[in-house]
Amino acid sequence: CGIVGILGKEAVALPLVDALRRLEYRGYDSAGVATLEGGEIVRRRAEGKLRNLESKLGRDPLNGTIGIGHTRWATHGRPTEANAHPHATGRLAVVHNGIIENFRDLREELTADGARFQSDTDTEVVAHLVTREIDRGLTPLAAVHATLVRLRGAFSLGFIFAGEEDLIIGARRGSPLAIGYGDGEMYLGSDAIALAPFTDMVAYLDDGDSVALTHNSATIYDDARRQVHRPVQKSQASAMIVDKGNHRHFMSKEIHEQPEVVSHTLASFVDMVDETIRLPENLPFDWRNLRRLTISACGTASFAGMIAKYWFERYARLPVEVDIASEFRYREAPLEEGGLAIFVSQSGETADTLAALRYCKEQGQHTLAVVNVPTSTIARDSDVVVRTLAGPEIGVASTKAFTCQLAALASLAIGAGKARGTLSVEQERELVHALIETPRLMAEALHLEHEIESFSRDLAKASDVLYLGRGTSYPLSLEGALKLKEISYIHAEGYAAGELKHGPIALIDETMPVVVIAPYDHIFEKTVSNMQEVAARGGRIILITDAKGAAAASMATLKTLVLPEMPALVTPLVYSVPIQLLAYHTAVIIGTDVDQPRNLAKSVTVE
Ligand code: G6P
Repeated sequence: CGIVGILGKEAVALPLVDALRRLEYRGYDSAGVATLEGGEIVRRRAEGKLRNLESKLGRDPLNGTIGIGHTRWATHGRPTEANAHPHATGRLAVVHNGIIENFRDLREELTADGARFQSDTDTEVVAHLVTREIDRGLTPLAAVHATLVRLRGAFSLGFIFAGEEDLIIGARRGSPLAIGYGDGEMYLGSDAIALAPFTDMVAYLDDGDSVALTHNSATIYDDARRQVHRPVQKSQASAMIVDKGNHRHFMSKEIHEQPEVVSHTLASFVDMVDETIRLPENLPFDWRNLRRLTISACGTASFAGMIAKYWFERYARLPVEVDIASEFRYREAPLEEGGLAIFVSQSGETADTLAALRYCKEQGQHTLAVVNVPTSTIARDSDVVVRTLAGPEIGVASTKAFTCQLAALASLAIGAGKARGTLSVEQERELVHALIETPRLMAEALHLEHEIESFSRDLAKASDVLYLGRGTSYPLSLEGALKLKEISYIHAEGYAAGELKHGPIALIDETMPVVVIAPYDHIFEKTVSNMQEVAARGGRIILITDAKGAAAASMATLKTLVLPEMPALVTPLVYSVPIQLLAYHTAVIIGTDVDQPRNLAKSVTVE
């Protein structure tokens, strides 16, 4: 979904639609614009494609010269016109990307206070909160600031206000937002691509920033409400389908996009109002009749598959076999007729994964593809397609596609558990609740970047690095080692923490950093024992954990990165962030070609 705002000299409704069209690649199912006419808020909104909105505007034009527009991918509430953005009160109109986690409480509070809701969206609480503050006498900017502190989640927002012909306010937390500078005109957009038709001079808001735009100025505030400056730069968006934003590399940009794209992906599976999972309907198989699930994939996608194994087994009590596609395709694995085979692939073109798919079809399996490119061969050849909505991933080393794969697979596992009756309604709600909080937790993990960068200096000096984890942190340790290898060319290995003593412990000395991924959970103590074994041999440990884990593991040789506490289900998604940043910063220190590492290809269509 996308956000656009224009402070223009002429009617802005159609230019807003033009800009939104450039964001179509993000996916959406309704759209709308709001402008000011004689100081009053007026809106046009439509279900479905932008051409529906455009024909509405043709029949019933808007003439306002200031406005905001939005394409919506339904999260809270169905993709109807009433739920389409902008949402408005007499005072203001607002567009929003992302998730407001505490909207239920806020909605109750506002309803008790007399607010009347017209939609099922989480966004509308923002409209009412800001309106209430303005009614109490605050300026629009102060009212937005007072509202931001009440909101929990990862999101971005754009506002216009009745009677304010020279003001658009934007704010971001977790989701990106850019400002475009024109000649006596100003723009707001969820990325520079939307702004490309108007200007190539852009500034990117930092996380936590808010901005007050007029026709001639942009005043930016950080999350402590201090006025700050963000550099204005020439964007490459018109030349390329995607640009790097404020980032030095696509990989960094893609790591930072994760709160947004993960919430986008989750939105296709999670009903955020009821906190339930809704899976694609009319599946050609019945989850209750399945006896085994086969997952195959390559590279990073195969680690997403390994993590999914833990989820399907735990939550759906469904036995899972997972293998890398290049092995699976030649193994002549016996598969029982009518089983389900899942293929995970960012590109949807990987030759080995495609061959595994064809083998499974021959063996009478139902096939389900989790892909990022919906037009790809693997998507076309599968019975069921589940999309990850990561957007184009340019960095060769996969980051956001991986966490979106995890989001999709976690949703499938919970949906399977629900269908098979192995999860109670209460358990489902708890798990879904955890998923809803994930984008915010990922945004919090991104705030640790500075600290992670300092750990990277250690890794950059090493010639070998070991990654350890148990449970879902084990496949994540494989992914951590792969990320480091791919982009820094440092040799790294991921290991199940319990296997350490059966071999790799022979390698441990004071020159070898050991990255331990260990959220505080039911097997944390076991991992600590493995860490003791490393420490006793002079190994240097970087522990990635939470506050409880840090307290329980305190030992001298340790460097600790402390993440927020969170339900076990979502640790692989959130712990991916420091793992990726660790590899990224190590590579940057070493000076390798981060986005296009030597010898690697983004999509491998040969065996
Ligand atoms: C290549 C890429 C990896 C990716 C793997 C599988 O090796 O460099 O990042 O994980 O292929 O690609 P897929 O498109 O099937 O997910």
